[in-house]
Amino acid sequence: MDYTRLWLDYEPVESLKGRSFSLITLESGRDIENILSELTLAVTVMTGSQPLSSGIDTDYVIRLVIDPELDSEGYTLIKDGRIYSVRSGGHRGLIYGSFRLIYIFKTKGLGGDFKLECKPHSPIRMADHWDNMDGSIERGYSGASFFFKDNKVVVNERTADYARLMASIGINAVAINNVNVRGEAAFLLTERHRSQLIRLAEILDGWGISLYLSINFASTIRVGGMDTADPADSRVQAWWSETSRQLFSSLPGFGGYLVKADSEGEFGPFAYGRTHAEGANMLARAVKPYGGRVIWRCFVYNCQQDWRDNKTDRAAQSYDGFIGLDGKFDDNVILQIKNGPVDFQVREPVHPLFGGLKKTNIMLEFQIAQEYTGQQRHVCYLMPAFKEVLDFDTHSGSRYSLVRDIVAGKNSPSSSFGICAVMNTGSDPNWTGHDLAAANLFGFGALAFDPTLSPEEIAEGWILLTYGRDELVLGNMLKILLSSLDAYEKYTAPLGIGWMVNPNHHFGPNVDGYEYDRWGTYHRASHSAIGRDRSDRGTGYARQYPEPLFSLYNEIKTCPEELLLFFHRVRFDHIMRDGRTLLQRIYSDHFEGADTAAEFVRLWQELEGRLDGEVYERVLKRLRFQAEHSTEWRDRINTYFYRLTEIPDALGRKIYE
Ligand code: GCU
Repeated sequence: MDYTRLWLDYEPVESLKGRSFSLITLESGRDIENILSELTLAVTVMTGSQPLSSGIDTDYVIRLVIDPELDSEGYTLIKDGRIYSVRSGGHRGLIYGSFRLIYIFKTKGLGGDFKLECKPHSPIRMADHWDNMDGSIERGYSGASFFFKDNKVVVNERTADYARLMASIGINAVAINNVNVRGEAAFLLTERHRSQLIRLAEILDGWGISLYLSINFASTIRVGGMDTADPADSRVQAWWSETSRQLFSSLPGFGGYLVKADSEGEFGPFAYGRTHAEGANMLARAVKPYGGRVIWRCFVYNCQQDWRDNKTDRAAQSYDGFIGLDGKFDDNVILQIKNGPVDFQVREPVHPLFGGLKKTNIMLEFQIAQEYTGQQRHVCYLMPAFKEVLDFDTHSGSRYSLVRDIVAGKNSPSSSFGICAVMNTGSDPNWTGHDLAAANLFGFGALAFDPTLSPEEIAEGWILLTYGRDELVLGNMLKILLSSLDAYEKYTAPLGIGWMVNPNHHFGPNVDGYEYDRWGTYHRASHSAIGRDRSDRGTGYARQYPEPLFSLYNEIKTCPEELLLFFHRVRFDHIMRDGRTLLQRIYSDHFEGADTAAEFVRLWQELEGRLDGEVYERVLKRLRFQAEHSTEWRDRINTYFYRLTEIPDALGRKIYE
């Protein structure tokens, strides 16, 4: 097997062997050619012979048909006797339906008659890459960038493989460069990189994917030679209009801009006393004539905080900065909101802007690059966490109040809504460094397309498509994946407190790593208590949620325990719902989490001989590292609390002095 092809590697399928197929469509175009070659490849390998282009004498026929009654990205897949038909209102739907058919062949063979109807839940399903033009990747854990090298745009076979992979999980938009637009990246807007970008956009467009560029709000100064970037200045507006005209007229399928402004030192409209809405709308008007969009990030907070200041609350700032602007953004602006109010920690409450914003287009931002969840050296299958966010009821009072429906735009006539994830891919041959991290890539696509799927179903689908059907492989991999998030949460920072990591690179335990820094992420542990009071007696953050959520979070006795230390300052002798003290809960979680990580090694070793040797060894090495590293986490965190409290573990387990 060729694991560099992830779930798109094909092998002979017993029930298809020796059967003849034909492949028929009246449609044409680059995207149709691509999906026809994919089907041809799959059928050829699975049956042993190439499909024909006329259906008269073959055992089976696959037809790709446009049906104007259907959604342009949805599809109906039917097997009726010898005919398989993929029907959709558009070419994207034909692509997704064809991949689905390939998956069915791969996992179930020919099968009996069936009819499947499917429509993506969210209009935009986006991959955000934080790639820099020097080839590095901000928060990249699987090798160098494949989009950029030596300050140039790279287009090669991997670009085509990438586009195909993304299409196979239903992704329809991609931002290729880091939201922190530094150095040469600002020049992606100019002629200098145009010819390569055209080639890249063509490849993506051939798989139904729109290219987006992250832009620097100061581009008029940085690359336009002007002395201002004031969005109210007509010269600035004219520059963006002309730049956008050029991009949209030359890049097929170009989607628009992704913007990080007035955030963590990035330039923005505040420099001119303008609001986020004024900044975003200026850009939105420049791309409007071409159907373009501006995706404006809400990750905005004061990153120059004084740790002595116990009033300022980073968690509250994103909501505070945007809620007053609800309804002030143009209809082609989308606000991009991280799943939680702080920054991709293993446990955070759902961002209160979901449900809070009622008259604004929004997009949910996840991160599958495991910046704070083990950096693709620890296995940490994130779908259970994503699922919780998507299923969360915001109690917004709108017709649809679940996050998954809000971000799909169910309360709005607009299609400028969606879900994105910061990507975990790089130049490593297996794409994601840790082979098991590919489950997050596959899972994100699957969940964005259909948020009603369960993390178990998705993991099982990924395992079957990637490793085939071997019951032990399936069983053990499922056990590892499905317990990995819980284990990680247990052996790292406790109960929603987050941030006990090494500064800057965010890997490995460091209890006070951020404690006296400027980033606003403090645990404030003393000998008797830990946490920040975010109730209405403290910073008041809990007030950003409507009832009944406000009351739920506002009181220690009702606050969900996994978020206890996010919302409250709690004494170590506080009695948890199961009768243990908070301190004992922290100790036990750390022992249990590390034990589970050790168990991963054992489960994996049972698979020796059943997997490709290279994959087996590579994963084993990482799981061994994880087991060891989780004991380091366990011991450092437990020792920290033991030294503060001088209370030993009630079960007598070893805590170092
Ligand atoms: C995190 C991450 C940064 C990134 C930022 C963002 O803080 O550590 O590298 O730039 O998020 O989302 O913009």
